[in-house]
Amino acid sequence: MKKLWMSTLLLSLAIGLAACSNAEKNSMPAGHNMDNMNQNTSNQPVSQKESSGSIETLTGTEFTLTAKEATLQINEQTTLPVWTFNGSVPGPQLQVKQGDTVKIHLKNELPDPVTIHWHGVPVPNNMDGIPGVTQNAVQPGETFTYEFKADDPGTYWYHSHQDGVNQLDKGLYGTFVVEGKEQKPDRDYTLVLDEWMSQPAGEQKDNSSMEGMDHSQMGHGSNTDQQKPEQDHDMSMMYDLYTLNGKSGSLVEPLKVKVGERVRIRLVNAGFMKQQIHLQGHDFAIVSTDGQPINNPPQIKDQLVSIAPGERYDLEFTASNPGQWHIDSHGDSKEVKGLKAMIQYEGSSQNTTGSDQANESIQLPVVDISNYGKAVESKYTLDQKYNLEYTMNLGTESTDKGTIYTINDKTFPNTEPLKVKKGDLVKVRLVNKSEKDEHPMHLHGHFFQVLSKNGKPVQGSPIIKDTLNLKPGEEYVVAFEADNEGNWMFHCHDLHHASAGMVTEVMYTDYKSDFVPDPSAGNKPE
Ligand code: C2O
Ligand code: CU
Repeated sequence: MKKLWMSTLLLSLAIGLAACSNAEKNSMPAGHNMDNMNQNTSNQPVSQKESSGSIETLTGTEFTLTAKEATLQINEQTTLPVWTFNGSVPGPQLQVKQGDTVKIHLKNELPDPVTIHWHGVPVPNNMDGIPGVTQNAVQPGETFTYEFKADDPGTYWYHSHQDGVNQLDKGLYGTFVVEGKEQKPDRDYTLVLDEWMSQPAGEQKDNSSMEGMDHSQMGHGSNTDQQKPEQDHDMSMMYDLYTLNGKSGSLVEPLKVKVGERVRIRLVNAGFMKQQIHLQGHDFAIVSTDGQPINNPPQIKDQLVSIAPGERYDLEFTASNPGQWHIDSHGDSKEVKGLKAMIQYEGSSQNTTGSDQANESIQLPVVDISNYGKAVESKYTLDQKYNLEYTMNLGTESTDKGTIYTINDKTFPNTEPLKVKKGDLVKVRLVNKSEKDEHPMHLHGHFFQVLSKNGKPVQGSPIIKDTLNLKPGEEYVVAFEADNEGNWMFHCHDLHHASAGMVTEVMYTDYKSDFVPDPSAGNKPE
C-alpha cells in the first residue's frame, strides 16, 4: 500500500524519538550556511528537529544508509508511518566532491527487500540498484555496499528501485549532490517535492475522491485489484498533501536569506506529480537541469518552472528585494497550497508591501527550457549520423484488467529493448500518444541531449538531461552515446505508469553481466 495509512494523530513519542535519534556525527542541515554550522543538530530538542523542514546533510566519501520505519509529521494534523533512509523523509543529503570515489552501505531494517538507485548518476551497471537486473534486492537484515566515482557535478537523488511505486510513495528517497569546483553560493537549499495521502483510500471523506475511488475499485470489474498502481487518475486525486522536504503548509521551513546573498535552490521532484514552481519577488536564473549546467542562463521573473517526476532544476538568485516572498507551486487544486516555503530576510524588518498574496491567482507563463539560455556548439546535432535510430510511442490503453501504459503498444517485460554496442551514437524519437497522461521518461546510466521539441530544434542552451517530460501530443528527439556498458532501464518516472508497463531497456549486446538473479529474492524492478 502506498501512503494509504491511518492518519496517526497520537503516535507514541517513543517511535518519534527513535526515528530521529540517529543524527550522524558530521551532519548539518541542508540549506544552512557556515554561520549556522555551530548549531549542532544533535543538541537541539528532538521535537524541534521533528518539525523542522530542513534536510540533514552528510559529507565525506563513505556513508551508511539504513532503511527503516519511522513516522513523519507532515502538517499540524497529520503524522504518517513512513519508510525512510536513516529515519527521515527525505533521507539525508549525501554531499560529495567531484572526482570522489564514494561508498554507501545500505542496511535494510525494513520488513521488505529494498535497493538504492542513484538517479541521474552514471554509475557502473552493477551499482545501479535494479533488482533482478543488476543485483538481487537487499533482504531484511542484510546489507549491500554501493561504490562508484562521482565524476559529474550536479543535483541528483537516490531512491529504492524495488517495488518503486510503493516504496517511493512510502518515503524511501533522498538527495545526492556532487559539488564541482565552481564557487559556492552563500546559501544552498535543497527542496524535495512530493505528495501524500492523509488517509487510506477507503476512508476518504471528500466526495470527489470517493467518486474516483469507486471508479478505481469497481470500474474494472474486480475489487481484488483495488488501489493497484495503474489507477493513475484516481490515485492522483487521493494525494491530498503536497510537501516540501516532507512538510506541508506552516511546517515547511522558511528559506533564510540576507540582503546581498547569492542563493541556490535545488528543486528535486521525488513525487509522481508535476509541479509548477514560482519563485516570487526576485529575478532568478535556471542554472542547471538534471544537474547539467545551462549555458548562459538569462535572468527571468514571474515565470513558472515546470518540474516533472524525477527531474531536477537548480535556481539561483540574489537576495536583493527584502519583503515577504515565497516559493510555491501553482495549480488549480487546493492541495497545491501546502507546497510553499517562505523566503525570510534575516536582519531586515519585514516589509509586507511585497504582499505574500501577490499574483497568486495570476496566470504566469511557464519557462520553455528548449528555448532558454544561449546556443553553443554541442556534442550532437539532428542530422549527424547515428548507429541506431529508435522511435518510442508512449501510450495509454484501457484493458479489462485496468489501464496499461505502453511503449510501442507493448508493456514491460515484453517491450522491445534498444540494442546497442559500446560507442554507438543513438537517436531516440519519443512521442506521447496518450490523451491525458504526461510521461516523464528517465534513462539510467547515461545523459541524453535534447535536440528538438515538436519538430523544432532546441533554440537556446544545449539541454542535457536524464529525465524528460512529454505532455500529451508532444514529440522530442534526444541523442546519447552508448558509453556505459550494461543493461539500463528507460522508463516513465510516474511509477504508476512504469509499474503498469511503461518500461524498456537499453541493452549492450556485447555486455556480459556476472549477476545471477535469485528467484527467491522477490525482485521487483518496478
Ligand atoms: Cu529514479 Cu528507474 O528511476
Ligand atoms: Cu508515464
